[in-house]
Amino acid sequence: MEEPREPHVLVLPFPAQGHIKPMLCLAKLLAAAGLRVTFLNTHHNHRRILPRGPSSPPSSLLRLESISDGLPDDHPRSLERIEELLLSIKTAMKAALREFLVSKSAEPPVTCVIADGIMSIGIDVAEELSVPAISFRTFSACCLWTYFCIPTFIHEGKLPFPDDDLDKEFHGLLGAEGLLRRRDLPSICRSAIAINLYRYFMDETIAMTRACALILNTFDALEAPMLSHLATIFTDIYTIGPLHALAVKSHVGHFSGRSESVGSLQMEDRSCMVWLNSQASRSVVYVSFGSLVKITVDQLMEFWHGLVNCGRPFLWVLREDAILGENEEKARSLLSELKVVSEGRRVVDWAPQEEVLAHAAVGGFLTHSGWNSTLEGIVAGIPMICWPRIADQQINSRWVSEVWKIGLDMKDTCDRSTVETMVRLLMDDKKEEIMKSMARISALSSDSVGPEGSSSKNLERLVKNIRKIGQTS
Ligand code: UDX
Repeated sequence: MEEPREPHVLVLPFPAQGHIKPMLCLAKLLAAAGLRVTFLNTHHNHRRILPRGPSSPPSSLLRLESISDGLPDDHPRSLERIEELLLSIKTAMKAALREFLVSKSAEPPVTCVIADGIMSIGIDVAEELSVPAISFRTFSACCLWTYFCIPTFIHEGKLPFPDDDLDKEFHGLLGAEGLLRRRDLPSICRSAIAINLYRYFMDETIAMTRACALILNTFDALEAPMLSHLATIFTDIYTIGPLHALAVKSHVGHFSGRSESVGSLQMEDRSCMVWLNSQASRSVVYVSFGSLVKITVDQLMEFWHGLVNCGRPFLWVLREDAILGENEEKARSLLSELKVVSEGRRVVDWAPQEEVLAHAAVGGFLTHSGWNSTLEGIVAGIPMICWPRIADQQINSRWVSEVWKIGLDMKDTCDRSTVETMVRLLMDDKKEEIMKSMARISALSSDSVGPEGSSSKNLERLVKNIRKIGQTS
């Protein structure tokens, strides 16, 4: 009789912060459940994420490995040059992945690949080697369902939009009737998006259906209607979010106040925690536009004046690469001017976001509505003002304001008076109403990762399934 094979999972994230963090949380959770796991980063991100202090791998079952993404070291890998990265993933990185999986590097042999929903090279190579693949899309169910409906919208002549009026109601998305304007659809629906990018992401979405199961970083009580639509496409769905909260509950996340957050690609400036300690309860607006979004100097100044004018203390994350279309020297000098510490405001390169949101001084979150940030806001119970820019953010922000009613959608505008009005609404005039919804949704998120919660149970089911498919492949 053949010896049973040891399950060995390869986790393959798309090489960007918002993908690496939830997928590393999952890798840690799987290893904590007794599975052997290899987390495969690109060399570029591996170097940045290398274990800093106690956030190193918690168990001998988790290995952090890396392969080349095929780009030279000095390539910026920025949003503006994403097409070069995408092309290189499909060619050089795919070859490196195949090489990694057939070589001794992946000993014992990999029995299951968990591929990011925009890393179909993971599914391709798994198929070539007859290894089962599971797809993990790191954004919301509402956005994924919308992506699957886009070909129908094109067929029906609803996309591309027949004219430039983004305020027109958009009909036809099952489960969202009366909810959407054109501007609320994912950014790939806007005509300004390059056609090859659109094709790329649509092809990746279709490729996900070749996987034997789907993992989502969401929870049943948050997105039940959208999940029921996705169940018409995927027979096996594992909703295991919010993953960062599940990781903390399972003691594999980092929330000690002493170490880097799980999967952070940048050094966190912890001095802002000390500054927060000196601020009044629920008084501070935390501002962060995630890891990719950039803003122009004009937008930056509008935000700055809007925030200053409303008279609330604020903590703003402005990454070194946050300014768009300015020469490097000018951008650097503007950022250093803003970073001068002054009473009532603090600007940092990168913050320990989960801890900031959990701090008693924080009362509002001005966010780009990235999915991780949205979930982190929900877990911490902090209401949001949304200024979405790309990808899923446009639709996430609509759900935040109109479905869950836990924030305000400031989409496509950021003049100083609107910023000021929004902050006043969030922190004063509409505070009670929004906080009531937020308290309910936040409690549901906490239940989902509790011992009997849906996400905890789904994770157990996922682990069981990974053990099973490992034996039969
Ligand atoms: C983008 C998308 O919008 C997201 O929905 C998609 O799934 C991945 O790509 P990103 O811009 O990185 O993501 O935003 P988000 O998903 O919110 O992730 C940012 C992460 O960086 C969060 O986990 C946040 O905690 C972390 N962060 C951000 C910090 O740790 N410190 C900071 O100062 C800012």
